[in-house]
Amino acid sequence: MTERTRRQVHLAAHFPGVNNTTVWSDPAAGSNIEFDSFEHMARTAERGLFDFFFLAEGLRLREHKGRVFDLDTVGRPETVSILAALAQVTEHLGLAGTLSSTYNEPYDLARKLGTLDLVSGGRAAWNVVTSNDAFTGANFRRGGYLDYADRYRRAEDFISTARTLWESRVPAIGPGDGSFSHRSEFFDIAGTFGLPPLPQGHPVVFQAGDSPAGRDFAAGSADVVFTRHTGIEAGAAFVADLRARAAGYGREPGSLKIFPGVTFAIGDTAAEAEERSRHIRYQQVSPAGAIAFLEQLWGRDLTAYDPDGPLPDVEPDVDPAAITRGRVRHIKDPRPTIAAWRELAAARHLSIRDLVVEVSARHSFVGTPATIAEQLDAYVQAGAADGFILVPHLTPGGLDEFVDRVVPELQNRGVYRDAYHGTTLRDNLGLPRFRPEAEWTAARSTTRAATTELQEVVS
Ligand SMILES: Cc1cc2nc3c(=O)[nH]c(=O)nc-3n(C[C@H](O)[C@H](O)[C@H](O)COP(=O)(O)O)c2cc1C
Repeated sequence: MTERTRRQVHLAAHFPGVNNTTVWSDPAAGSNIEFDSFEHMARTAERGLFDFFFLAEGLRLREHKGRVFDLDTVGRPETVSILAALAQVTEHLGLAGTLSSTYNEPYDLARKLGTLDLVSGGRAAWNVVTSNDAFTGANFRRGGYLDYADRYRRAEDFISTARTLWESRVPAIGPGDGSFSHRSEFFDIAGTFGLPPLPQGHPVVFQAGDSPAGRDFAAGSADVVFTRHTGIEAGAAFVADLRARAAGYGREPGSLKIFPGVTFAIGDTAAEAEERSRHIRYQQVSPAGAIAFLEQLWGRDLTAYDPDGPLPDVEPDVDPAAITRGRVRHIKDPRPTIAAWRELAAARHLSIRDLVVEVSARHSFVGTPATIAEQLDAYVQAGAADGFILVPHLTPGGLDEFVDRVVPELQNRGVYRDAYHGTTLRDNLGLPRFRPEAEWTAARSTTRAATTELQEVVS
């Protein structure tokens, strides 16, 4: 491939949050509440010419064995407020916030995100999540629940409604005077939207969910997908699947951008990077954290076991009442996983803690700045991603070294920008102008009608 046709690598920053990627025991770890931390990481990302800064969201504090799970940080400040504050200390960086379509209302959220787009000069993005369970929902509504399938249907309807509001004052696309009326299964609202046309028309919409329903939702409604799929082969298959789905919704396939979340460990030599990765992994999995990790799968108290000793010999409690609540992912039947772990631990003589280090997420990229740049480049050239959301292990300095050492290597390879071109997040991402809501909806109904017809023919 010639220089001219080489795809460009895109980067984004994930502010470390409530998960076991983040190391809080390190002396360099700072607050995840103080604004200085957000500001430091956002400024670093902008220095590195990143596309956007990303905030995840959790709407209820996780609990483990009936108590708030405090082995890593609990709670975080509200997303849109932090992003609005960051808009004032950055100029080009996109500001992406995770916000639930299950526990918000369209008018309120469209107004907040619209305001963020206005005060940032066109840098707002909304990562639409459907949120997991009734436990989370108890913070919001009686009964707390919405069935899984209904959550995605509501999400789709929610985005349509928000887009209708955003374009209500855009002449030739909306009515122009802000008036709106939206009656559907989930919403019945009418009135006048109070914000002028937004710099981006519509804030950029992200999606993060991996089921077939989630992928279809992304293809039919989103601009960017945040995924856990990493590795060139798995990444390329995922990208191909999503792009085909996007084409099915009448879209130019490249208008859907795919960003896996990735981790990294940098060293001066390959051996040093490996050693650093190992050190970070053992920081991420503390002795108490290793026991808690197993307890989530075994569904019972395992504090009597030595983290440096062998795996528990007791069987799991498969009672459906989860010992940990508020996690995004749950394994339904733990027994096959436990059997596989026992086999692995026996074959490799692993302690509980070693095993957890082995089976919980390892670093996606380990190497020198030059080899990491080479791997990121290869990944993008292979069509396995458009860019990467970097998930550092330290708050707030976890991206400093990456920006200082890996970004220049990417620039030397000719696959990374030397300056921002344009002013909006759409410009950073290379996205086309916003697609009017009526086109999204028409494409969804045509595609789904065709799919139903096909299913009828086949059956
Ligand atoms: C990479 C990734 C990041 C996610 N981040 C969040 C998050 O910050 N907050 C949240 O409530 N859900 C988050 N989710 C959960 C999804 O929004 C979705 O609700 C969940 O994955 C279930 O959908 P699915 O069955 O389509 O995967 C994330 C999912 C993925 C794949």
